[in-house]
Amino acid sequence: MPRVAVIEGDGIGPEVTRAALKVLGKVCTIYNIGDLELVKVPAGDSAYKTYGKAIPDESWKIIQTSDVVLKGPVGETAGEVVVKIRRGLDLYANIRPSRCLPGIECLRPEIDLVVVRENTEDVYVRAEYLHNDIAIALRVISRRASERIARVAFRIARKRKRRVTIVHKANVMTITDGLFRDTVRQVRDREFPDIELDEAYIDAAAMDIVRRPSRFDVIVTTNLFGDILTDLAAYVSGSIGIAASANIGDEKAMFEPVHGAAFDIAGKGIANPIAMILCTSWMLKWLGEKLNRGSYLKAGESIENAVYRLLSERRKLTPDLGGSATTEEVTEEICNLLT
Ligand code: IPM
Ligand code: MN
Repeated sequence: MPRVAVIEGDGIGPEVTRAALKVLGKVCTIYNIGDLELVKVPAGDSAYKTYGKAIPDESWKIIQTSDVVLKGPVGETAGEVVVKIRRGLDLYANIRPSRCLPGIECLRPEIDLVVVRENTEDVYVRAEYLHNDIAIALRVISRRASERIARVAFRIARKRKRRVTIVHKANVMTITDGLFRDTVRQVRDREFPDIELDEAYIDAAAMDIVRRPSRFDVIVTTNLFGDILTDLAAYVSGSIGIAASANIGDEKAMFEPVHGAAFDIAGKGIANPIAMILCTSWMLKWLGEKLNRGSYLKAGESIENAVYRLLSERRKLTPDLGGSATTEEVTEEICNLLT
């Protein structure tokens, strides 16, 4: 019985999570999925206020014994929540595709790339020190983490255009990014000779995502650079409100929208639920593959198809996508489009 730890999040989090769970419930009925156990766990700003910890001990226990985490956007404490889960569950690959979906106005319609972001180290080890007015942060890059993220990127590239770009700054961080770049190259030479490999410095890569995104198929990069590039790529491909992301480890995974808690529109009923709804779709597909369950795979595809249809026919869209529908109306429409 697969167990899902659900974190509602803050700001618009509870609204978009409610929407996603509604779609999930409906699709599970259609596909006769009766064994998915959903456990809501307090985490984030509200948990911090109540329990004094962004992830209370009880929540952490449940998260650790779950197969997957479905996480809404978290506010001020996002760093604590998300980094603890990524590192604690060893969800080492953060996978963030960006492409222009039909019906969506894009800055660059030709964009179609996947950023594969190392998810456990770099400055996200959060080891910072202050000494005599000098602040120091550790940047950790290991061969092991670089090797395994490289493999993820090359495997994804095999299902796409077979091109990988290493994004780094090895001209300045010669040792850390030098190790990252050299390790990815070695993995390519040893295990994936069929993949075309090139590289770009982070600054130039950022420019090219805007200027000529067709240059990229799969980007493999370190944690912080991946963080920055994926907001940019989400914007270039249309809207951050529809960008979902996957945090994948060998045993477990977490799915979360790329967007944040958007406190400015919280409670107004106009938050775009699509990124969060796509998270449930990806979750079902991941579980389907892991557990070898066709119904989960089909249910995941059904959600994805319903979302694509809603977008391409511009049926019901929230204001961020130029529409005037509410979160609930969009959710209802997606439920109706499930087949
Ligand atoms: C993201 C977020 C997080 C990150 C923050 C909230 C810590 O920006 O998932 O991209 O930096 O990874
Ligand atoms: Mn980010």
